[in-house]
Amino acid sequence: MKTTAAVLFEAGKPFEIVELDLDGPRDGEVLIRYTAAGLCHSDLHLTDGDLPPRFPIVGGHEGAGIIEEVGPGVTKVKPGDHVVCSFIPNCGHCRYCSTGRQSLCDMGATILEGCMPDGSFRFHSGGEEFGAMCMLGTFSERATISQNSVVKVDDWLPLETAVLVGCGVPTGWGSANYAGGVRNGDITVVYGIGGIGINAVQGAVHAGAKYVIAVDPIEFKRDTALKFGATHVFHDATAAADKVNELSWGQGADQAIVTVGTVDEEVVTAAFNVIGKGGTLVVTGMAAPDKLTVHVSGLDLTLNEKTIKGTLFGSANPQYDIVRLLRLYDAGQLKLDELVTTRYRLEDVNQGYQDLRDGKNIRGIIVH
Ligand SMILES: NC(=O)c1ccc[n+]([C@@H]2O[C@H](COP(=O)([O-])OP(=O)(O)OC[C@H]3O[C@@H](n4cnc5c(N)ncnc54)[C@H](O)[C@@H]3O)[C@@H](O)[C@H]2O)c1
Ligand SMILES: [Zn+2]
Ligand SMILES: [Zn+2]
Repeated sequence: MKTTAAVLFEAGKPFEIVELDLDGPRDGEVLIRYTAAGLCHSDLHLTDGDLPPRFPIVGGHEGAGIIEEVGPGVTKVKPGDHVVCSFIPNCGHCRYCSTGRQSLCDMGATILEGCMPDGSFRFHSGGEEFGAMCMLGTFSERATISQNSVVKVDDWLPLETAVLVGCGVPTGWGSANYAGGVRNGDITVVYGIGGIGINAVQGAVHAGAKYVIAVDPIEFKRDTALKFGATHVFHDATAAADKVNELSWGQGADQAIVTVGTVDEEVVTAAFNVIGKGGTLVVTGMAAPDKLTVHVSGLDLTLNEKTIKGTLFGSANPQYDIVRLLRLYDAGQLKLDELVTTRYRLEDVNQGYQDLRDGKNIRGIIVH
């Protein structure tokens, strides 16, 4: 079968739209027709060289669509089912899945290689094998993926919106609720209001935070944070720290969540310093692996019992949380439609990422 996809051939180069050959599903795999894909900053890290993938790779790891065919042994879904993909698969039985930590599933070991766990690929062209970002490759019309990468969702939900629950929403929401452990009455600061940070704001509001303080240099982002329930917004970390000091009578914030596009030492240090005794710094955003971004006072860490926590997929369990968040949306308690700023065609994927770089989008969506 043929499929059209947006492919990265090397770092620093834009996506190219190419036609690829696609193998059908093998044991435990499904053929999916993607109806929508989200433009998350993590794909931009592939281009920018922060996340080093194996090239060539079909981009896209936020995806939703309809199952067209299933391979032998597939029990989770059947043709016609509507699904949201999880950028981290969940096998259900590894050490991490079986202890309620699906965001760390061992099956996710090849998400940057973009191959199946056995090392084989499903996208090909001219004798070359093409990977799939996060084993999904949602910037393709169709893909063959593991049944462990899909979560069946209610078929009345609009997939164009539900697609965001494949990465941005649970990652941000979980950064507040799971990794940050936000509780009623807390003070939470979120640095960087993109597709992830806006959901950290939304998650902290859900958890009952007394004050949710959003920091972003772009006015449109700050205005959006207010619409999602932030109580205060600031253009930089210093102004936010002054306000936290005032609001907490000098005690500091309970959580600082770093969701900026590219993490650096400056924002991590500001976030570490804004939390008070027993506070938690959550680092969700990414930077190149060889770039050291966390340099803090060990004495402050020890004496004030601070916690620094990394988080993948917001430390959520995709199999449960994707459905859970969509049911919150269905009940009118989670904002999803409001997250989508612009819709693009697959051919316009590079424009979508330029708009993300220019700070114009909370989330851009490709509609296939
Ligand atoms: N840990 C995970 O599981 C996971 C999952 C998805 C994405 N991510 C990462 O999260 C990060 C955010 O992704 P996104 O799609 O929301 O990106 P985005 O580009 O849409 O948003 C980032 C925001 O940060 C703001 N910003 C930049 N520097 C800042 C600073 N110093 N202080 C305050 N704000 C600043 C930008 O103006 C922008 O609004 C990326 O690094 C992405 O790779 C992590
Ligand atoms: Zn993502
Ligand atoms: Zn697992």
